[in-house]
Amino acid sequence: MLKTNMLDVLKKARRMPQVILPKDAAMIVAYTGVSPGWNVIDAGTGSGWLAMFLANIVKPGKVVSYERNEIFAKNVVKIIKDFNIDNLKVINKDVLRAKPRGRFDLATLDLKNAENLVPKIFKLLNDNGYVAVYSPHIEQVKRVRKVIEKLGFVGPVTIENIVREWKVTDDFTHPVPSGVLHTGFLTVAKKAGIAKSGLRR
Ligand SMILES: C[S@@+](CC[C@H](N)C(=O)[O-])C[C@H]1O[C@@H](n2cnc3c(N)ncnc32)[C@H](O)[C@@H]1O
Repeated sequence: MLKTNMLDVLKKARRMPQVILPKDAAMIVAYTGVSPGWNVIDAGTGSGWLAMFLANIVKPGKVVSYERNEIFAKNVVKIIKDFNIDNLKVINKDVLRAKPRGRFDLATLDLKNAENLVPKIFKLLNDNGYVAVYSPHIEQVKRVRKVIEKLGFVGPVTIENIVREWKVTDDFTHPVPSGVLHTGFLTVAKKAGIAKSGLRR
């Protein structure tokens, strides 16, 4: 019998702020290639959906996730404990003031004014690491893209994933008439490796 998987955990977990749905989390996987062994920094934790989704993929790699709201952070700490997710650490701090330790292969940002955090993230990423920024509004995307391009990240893309479910019956088959249409835009870019000479590889 198949054990409870991450999608079951997400359905059972207590949801607080707006989450990144699996359809958008899946795009992060598709556009970064995040795999087992990667180390990830995530902010803000919110309801922990993206952080848990990624922790499930990267193990034995680790996810460290920053959340400044104590109630939200405590909620996710409880979920982690209840479901034995041992490679996700939630830190209850403002990520802009925090001093994360270590280097990361992927940074996922889902917070207002993410553009203010991108320069710090650039320094924390390994060469060839990725930043993925989730933005509900296109005005946020424009601000993020400006900073990403200025810092020298390469290959930035901004995408949106529109998923339509269909109602299938013996008689008539058509798209389900209501449901979530817009969630957010995803911007992904890579930190190119810098050779010792200072030239890009
Ligand atoms: C939309 S929620 C994130 C949802 C999350 N990605 C998920 O899938 O469940 C955004 C969160 O960022 C947090 N946040 C905003 N600014 C922050 C900061 N400077 N440091 C840490 N957390 C922050 C908010 O408190 C909020 O919980």
